[in-house]
Amino acid sequence: MKKGDILDLEITSSGMEGEGVARVEGQVVFVPLCMQGEKVRVMVREVNKKFARASVIKVLEPCEDRVIPLCPIFYRCGCCDMQHIKYRKQLEIKKANVEACLYKALKRRIDVDDVRGDGLVFGYRNKIQVPLAKVAGKVVAGYYKGNTHKVVPFGERVREDLGACVMYERGMQDMLDAFLNYANEAGLDCYDEERHEGFLRHFVARKVGDKYAVVIVGNGKKLPLQKSLIKALTNTGRKFSLYFDSNTKKTNVIMSSDITLIYGEARLEADVCGVRAKVSPLSFMQINDGVRDMIYRDVAERIKSDGEGTVIDAYSGAGVLTNVLAKSAKKVYGIEIVPEAVADADELTKSCGNAVKVVNICGDCAQKLPLLADKLREEREKFSVVLDPPRKGCDAKVLDALKSAKPDAVYYISCNPATLARDLAILDCDYEILSVSPYDMFPQTKHVETVACLKRK
Ligand SMILES: C[S@@+](CC[C@H](N)C(=O)[O-])C[C@H]1O[C@@H](n2cnc3c(N)ncnc32)[C@H](O)[C@@H]1O
Repeated sequence: MKKGDILDLEITSSGMEGEGVARVEGQVVFVPLCMQGEKVRVMVREVNKKFARASVIKVLEPCEDRVIPLCPIFYRCGCCDMQHIKYRKQLEIKKANVEACLYKALKRRIDVDDVRGDGLVFGYRNKIQVPLAKVAGKVVAGYYKGNTHKVVPFGERVREDLGACVMYERGMQDMLDAFLNYANEAGLDCYDEERHEGFLRHFVARKVGDKYAVVIVGNGKKLPLQKSLIKALTNTGRKFSLYFDSNTKKTNVIMSSDITLIYGEARLEADVCGVRAKVSPLSFMQINDGVRDMIYRDVAERIKSDGEGTVIDAYSGAGVLTNVLAKSAKKVYGIEIVPEAVADADELTKSCGNAVKVVNICGDCAQKLPLLADKLREEREKFSVVLDPPRKGCDAKVLDALKSAKPDAVYYISCNPATLARDLAILDCDYEILSVSPYDMFPQTKHVETVACLKRK
């Protein structure tokens, strides 16, 4: 097999990226956008010692779980991976991926619950973050074509309640359309990454409750003709705040921290499981409100049924989960590395009236968690730990601290089954895995969020 070969393949399993997997003379071939049980004609794109990659030219025999994607540019856009798969089957593939990761790391089968979602399988994202480019002389928004920085403009809306990108609801699109009209009428140009020239970089918006926080990211100091944009956004009939983010660096980081409020309230208020959180453009929030609430509720209920002890909420972000947990715990310590997020957490704690119960610690979990766990152990305090790390999983020092301080229970919220499985294997001698519950936080994509509940042996 070599690059450029055209082959007819039978897809025999699913890969971790939501792709199909075939074998040619014993070698694994990864083929995106197809699934187990299908026959496909492919072109080989890459061959190396361990595996090959190929792309589908034609589906020769589709399987019964193939559907027509709702999004007309799905096959060109590269942002979702699974719109061509029946939703029920998507959930089965995600569950199997979590099981496979656990099996690989722990060398035994672990029971995994069926993947749960909240039923909203399109229009679920509360944040839109899209690059802007000039196409045929017009400012457009779209997505980068897979593995490139070429913007694929959104097509027409396919459903009344959704945006042109079906991951967003209608209101987000109304804000984007109003912005694009303004940008074209104002004659603004777009940023060119290679030449580090041009102005408009990204359109970012977040839906918070029934309001929209709109951020225009530009390579300059000020957004021109601001009144025209305020008028255009007001004409949508939706409530909003408008900010300008001045990002003048040659970087692919989307937003800088140089943000100016142009119109509306500086921070919008979200209700998360009864906690009123004030959200600023840079605050971290999970992108699917409904599934986020299911996960937070699940963890809070488990902590309540453990007897309302002390909790360490490690990797605590802006303290939203920390304050949700305060209702179920005697005391909660949040640990978070980003100072701005800790400042948000402190303010939230105060506004929730949790100042006595909640302590927000600023620092690296690798340093702060071992010290805190030792202190609680010395004080003979019964405590449990919630871990919600980024995709790379927990630092080894955090896991070592858990192994020596031995909290009664560990609740691990993970957005990456591979690092979750790796970390559970490290805790395996000291902890029993009570349950592993995947949640469909990101329908139509390969991603899955998982909550693992562990009890000290
Ligand atoms: C997946 S988010 C979880 C946030 C929060 N639990 C929530 O649900 O909103 C992970 C958080 O961990 C923080 N973080 C990353 N590395 C860290 C470290 N070494 N120590 C402490 N916090 C860290 C990030 O800034 C981010 O806020």
